[in-house]
Amino acid sequence: MRILILHGPNLNLLGEREPEVYGTMTLAQLDARLRAHARQRRATLRIFQDNCEGTLIDLLHGNRRWAQGAVFNPGAYTHYSYALRDAVAAIALPTIEVHLSDTGKREPFRRRSVIAPVCLASVRGKGADSYLEAIDRLCALPR
Ligand code: DQA
Repeated sequence: MRILILHGPNLNLLGEREPEVYGTMTLAQLDARLRAHARQRRATLRIFQDNCEGTLIDLLHGNRRWAQGAVFNPGAYTHYSYALRDAVAAIALPTIEVHLSDTGKREPFRRRSVIAPVCLASVRGKGADSYLEAIDRLCALPR
């Protein structure tokens, strides 16, 4: 399966960013784990990180014909970006929203996701394993 992995804003600072919330794994280490996991599942990944809403939209659009599924951590855009929600709906790919932290147990503004309603599922609060579970769920989809 061909899977688009999209990391949103501030995830480039994983490892140094609020380690008490997000852990000490860097984005490069996380991506290496995802690639190793995908290899075991015979999945191919394209991985991108960007801080800009418009670029994330362009990446969703630009990879829509290549990808058969997407794993998306929209960062703080999760909570208010209707433009990203519309982009996910527009590309009509099975998309799983992921979060490292458990957004349901943090500040009230993080409890709402405007992206989740257009996703197949949301996986949160499991650190890197949120992404691994999302990859597994996409690979288990009938094709
Ligand atoms: C996050 C949760 C968001 O609320 C936050 O803005 C992030 C990271 C997570 O992976 O836990 O940037 O998406």
